[in-house]
Order: sequence, then structure tokens, then C-alpha cells
Amino acid sequence: MKNFQNHVPIIQAPMAGGITTPELVAAVSNTGAIGSFGFAYSSAGKIDSDLCEVRKLTDKSINANFFVFTEMDAPPDKDCKIAIEILESLPLKAVISDSSLSAPFFLSLEHQLEPIWKHKPEMLTFHFGLPPKHILQKAQSLGMYVGITATSLGEAEAIQNHGADFVVAQGIEAGGHRGTFSADGKGDEKLSTFELLRVLKGECLLPIVCAGGIMSGEDIVTYLSEGAAAVQLGTSFLCCNEAGTNPIHKNYILEERERETVYTKGFSGRWAQSIQNEFTSLMENEYVLPFPVQYTLSSSLRKHAVKTGNGEYQSLWAGTEFKKARALPVAKLISELMSEMDSYKRKQGDKTK
Ligand SMILES: Cc1cc2nc3c(=O)[nH]c(=O)nc-3n(C[C@H](O)[C@H](O)[C@H](O)COP(=O)(O)O)c2cc1C
Repeated sequence: MKNFQNHVPIIQAPMAGGITTPELVAAVSNTGAIGSFGFAYSSAGKIDSDLCEVRKLTDKSINANFFVFTEMDAPPDKDCKIAIEILESLPLKAVISDSSLSAPFFLSLEHQLEPIWKHKPEMLTFHFGLPPKHILQKAQSLGMYVGITATSLGEAEAIQNHGADFVVAQGIEAGGHRGTFSADGKGDEKLSTFELLRVLKGECLLPIVCAGGIMSGEDIVTYLSEGAAAVQLGTSFLCCNEAGTNPIHKNYILEERERETVYTKGFSGRWAQSIQNEFTSLMENEYVLPFPVQYTLSSSLRKHAVKTGNGEYQSLWAGTEFKKARALPVAKLISELMSEMDSYKRKQGDKTK
């Protein structure tokens, strides 16, 4: 894969945490668009079995995505105690296990990538920073097309200098974790997807994939005609039949449309956009441990909420435009998006006549 030209220019965003099932990824890729796995929290064994499974369902281009975690020391005991007390004092009254508070805090990227070198997905993308150069070069030598998330011009320039093939330009509208290189998000200009595209267009020589708030065929045509090589949609796919999104998360997206989204560090220790709920409100100014320790720490609370059907204490990742999400099988969603693209292009064509 050398560019997006032989594909429908839509990438289903990688979404770690059980959402990107082999069925979802294959259904997207079988339409000619690109399906992505969010493998950030997956073991090498799970990655291997998902890739074996997806290859039974499609021979088209797929993407595998990983986080670039930053090495860290164990947080001091007193900080851990504070973070545990805060979570335990929430009305849900979950018991917080501190067994996660010693290293390793995340899986080894080198180990996670072993099945990638075997299965060779056509695309490989990274979130939260630059992967080691030898990994990028190995992927490229195996024919993979490598992209990295940027939220600013500075990050896009670093991605270009590092030798990646394309940039995923993530705007502030995007659901899930904000892919800033800096873990605390300091200095984040919080550009909208459109502003970011405008800023990158004149300066960045790499193809730009726009992500954040893109929900309709009209949105897609607008970004493509402004110079994007492709678009990446996450929230749009969360309610697809093939997605592994838990039913309560789907339900909030489809039914709780009087709510807004908020950025919170409460679940994971890094800024991420979720539908507002009791947890995001109560944790607004509370102390949290660094990512991903806080995420592991909050897992017993989140699991308890899932088990008891309580959406108020789950991470309901979604972008600002979540109210436009449709509950459809993937093939139908993509065919609707493509027919909206055609009719918007026709309308634009009529206007210029
Ligand atoms: C539920 C969810 C999980 C996500 N997980 C990841 C991830 O694992 N890796 C990644 O690069 N981006 C992840 N993202 C961000 C997407 O790649 C993309 O930037 C975002 O979905 C685009 O905005 P939209 O949700 O408005 O379409 C996630 C987004 C959502 C909604």
C-alpha cells in the first residue's frame, strides 16, 4: 500500500478496548475502505488470534494501531493512596485494587509487534508520539504504510522528520484519547480538525488523514476538497452491528442526546473525550495518577459499572458530534456515506455551473 488512492478514502479509526473486532475491521475493509484494530492494550497472543481471524474474513487492506507509552517510575505511595481514596469515595463504592501499582505499567511494544511482523497488515499507526525508528523502518521494509497522530504543526513536523508515510491529524472534536505527544497535554493548542488541516496543509509534505467530528458524506467531501488524503472516523462506527462496543456505551450514544461530551483525565490519567456522566463531573478537579496507571487503577470501578449496567461510571468515549451516529451494519453505513458524498459533490458541481 503506497497511498490511499486505491481505497475508499475512509479509515475506521482504531479504538482500543474491545471495540474493533475482526468482524468490524473486515466488514469495513471489504467495502474498499480501511478497517483498523486498536491493539494498544492487547497481548501478543490476542493480536495474533485477531489477525488470523480477520484474514479469514477479508484479504483487503487493514490497519493495526498501537500506543507509544512513555517509560515511567512507579508513582510515590502517598500519591497512590490519594488516587485510591478519591476513587473509593465515589458514590459507586467500588473496591479499588492497588495490585496494578507496580511496573510494568504497560505491555512491551516490541513484544506486541511480533505478530505484526508475521501477519504484515498493510497499515501500521501509532498514537501518543513517535515509535522507535527501527520499528518504523522495519514496518516500511515489510511494505507497511506507517502513520502517526499529530495534534499540532510541531508534532506533524516531528513525524515527517522521523520518516513516517502519513500524518493522522486529530482535531479537538475527536472521541477517545487526545494523541498529544506530551502526556500532560501542556501547550495543547486544541485546534479543531479543520483548523489543524489548514495549518498543516501549507507546511507538511506528508499525506494528511483528518480525524475528529467527521460524521457525514458532506463532511468527508469538505475535508477531501480542502486537501486531506483520507478521513478517519471513530464515533461513526461505534454503533455498527459488528462493533464490540458495550451495549450501554451504544445506548448512551443513541439515546442520551441531550448530553454533551467533555475532556476528562479521570479514567486514564490522560485527556480523553467522553460523553459527560456522573464520573466525569465528580472527577473534574480531582487528583489522578499518570497514564496508564490511573486507567488500570480505575478498571475495577469501570468493570463493576459494566457488570451492573451503570453507564455513569463507564468511559463513554465519543466525539463532539456523537449525536449524528447511526446504528447500522458497516456496509450500509459506508454505502450511505458514499451516496451522501456523491450527492454533495453533485450539489457543489451544480453551484459552480
Ligand atoms: C472509543 C474510541 C477509542 C479510541 N481509541 C483509539 C486508539 O486506540 N488509538 C488511536 O489512535 N485512536 C483512538 N481513538 C481516536 C480515533 O483514532 C480518532 O481520532 C477519533 O475517533 C476521531 O474522532 P471521532 O470520534 O469524532 O470520529 C479512539 C476514539 C474512540 C471514539
